[in-house]
Amino acid sequence: MTPLPAAFFPPSTPATYTRADFGPDFHWGTSTAAYQIEGAWNLDGKGPSIWDAFVRRRRTIKHRENADITCDFYHLYKEDLGLLKQMGIKDFRFSTSWSRILPDGVGTVNEKGLDFYDRLVDGCLERGITPWLTLYHWDLPLALQRRGGWTNRAIVGWFTEFAQLIANRLGDRVRHWMVLNEPMVFVGAGHMLGIHAPGRRGLGSFLAATHHAALAQAEGGRALRATLPATASIGTTYSCSYVTPWRPGLPRDERATRRADALLNRLFVEPALGLGYPVADLPILNWLDYYVRPGDEALLPFKFDFLGVQNYTREVVRHSPYVPLLWATLVGAKARGMPYTQMGWEVYPESIYHMLKQFSSYSAAPPLLVTENGAAFPDEVVAGRVPDYARQAYLRACIGQVLRARREGIPVEGYFVWSFTDNFEWAEGYEPRFGLVRVDYDTQQRTIKDSGWWYRDLLAGNVC
Ligand code: NOJ
Repeated sequence: MTPLPAAFFPPSTPATYTRADFGPDFHWGTSTAAYQIEGAWNLDGKGPSIWDAFVRRRRTIKHRENADITCDFYHLYKEDLGLLKQMGIKDFRFSTSWSRILPDGVGTVNEKGLDFYDRLVDGCLERGITPWLTLYHWDLPLALQRRGGWTNRAIVGWFTEFAQLIANRLGDRVRHWMVLNEPMVFVGAGHMLGIHAPGRRGLGSFLAATHHAALAQAEGGRALRATLPATASIGTTYSCSYVTPWRPGLPRDERATRRADALLNRLFVEPALGLGYPVADLPILNWLDYYVRPGDEALLPFKFDFLGVQNYTREVVRHSPYVPLLWATLVGAKARGMPYTQMGWEVYPESIYHMLKQFSSYSAAPPLLVTENGAAFPDEVVAGRVPDYARQAYLRACIGQVLRARREGIPVEGYFVWSFTDNFEWAEGYEPRFGLVRVDYDTQQRTIKDSGWWYRDLLAGNVC
C-alpha cells in the first residue's frame, strides 16, 4: 500500500482520541437522502420528482445512470437498519421523499408512501436507533416544478403544508428535524449552473429560488414548531467550505474570497439568524429586492435549535475577469497539486474546524452539529473485506478537527458521516463511493468497509 499524502495527517489533529473525549451526550450518526438510496421510483403510488425527470434527460448524469433502483432501501431498509445496529450507530439521518407522500406535491396523500416512513421510523426505534429526519433533500415533486418550483413564491405555502403533514404523522416518534438540506447547492447547482435538477440556468431563476428557499427554511421551521411537541429539536443544514485566497495578501484575491464566502457560506444562514442577506460583501444580491416583498424581512429569521454544518473540503479563490458579477473563480486541488478525492475535492481536514468556528462566531447561532462529512475514494472487495484506508484516515482527521473545535469551546454536539452506504451521487452517478458500507449494485450485496469497522470501534470506545 502506498502511504497517504501528508494532507491526511494535519499536525493539529489530536494524537489519539476516544469517544469519551466528546462527552456522553455527543450524537454519533450517519446520513443518507431519499433519492440517493430508496429506489422504488414509481412504486406504491409515488409521483415523479424533478430528479426522476432530470436523470432521463440527455447529458445530465455521468454514464446516463439514474436512481430508479439505487440501493433499493425502500425494500431493504430492515436489513440496512440491522447493519447500523451491527456497527453500533445509534443516530440515523434520512430524508422524506415529498412526491412519495404527495404525488402532486399538494392535496391528496399517498398513504402507502407515508406508511413507508412510519415503518422506517418504527424500525429505527425498535432497534434503539434515533431517527433524524430531513424534510427536503432536493427531490421536489415534478408536479410542482411544472408550476415553477422554487422560482414560484407559492412554494413557501406548498412546503409548509408538506412540513405540517409529516410533523403530524411522525412527530410523536421523531424528535430531531431538519428543514432543508443545503439550500445553496440545490439553488446554485439546480437554478444557476443547471447541473442538478431542475437544470435551470440564469441569475433570475437563481435569485428567485434563493429568496423562496430562504423564506421556506424559516416558514418550514415555524410550521414544525407549531405542529410538533415542545420537546422537538428543529434544525436545518448548510453546505460550507473554508475559503482562502489563491494569493494571500493580494487585494483582488482577498476581495474575491470575501464574495465567494458570502455566496458559498453565508447566503442562507445569515437571513435565518436575522442578519439579512450578505449584500455588503456580494452586491449582486441587491437584485434579490426584485423578489422581496414588504414584510419579508420579518419572515426570514427563525430560531433554530441547531444548525447542521456540512463540510467536505476547502476552496481556494482567485479574482477572475471572466466570471461576470462574481468576478471570482475557484482554483481546483488538481491545479494546485494537492491531494483530492474522487469528487476532485481537496483533502483538507482542517476546513471543518474553521467552518465550525465561523458558524459559531455569529452571536445568534444555536449549537452546531456536523450533519455531513465524508469522502469518496475508490474501493473494492478483497477476500470479503473492503480495505479503504484513505476514507478511514480522512474521517479520523476530520473527527479530530471536530474535537479540536470542541476543546476550544465551540458548541458542536454531534457528527454524522456521509454516508451510511454507497449511493447515487447526483450528476456524478455511482462512481464516487462515500459509504461506510459498500454496495454491489448488481446483487444489492452490502459489505461493511474497514472504515465502517473503524467507526464502530470508535463508537465502542476504542482509542483511535
Ligand atoms: C452533500 C449532499 O447533501 C449529499 O446529498 C451529497 O451526496 C454529499 N454532499 C456528497 O456530495
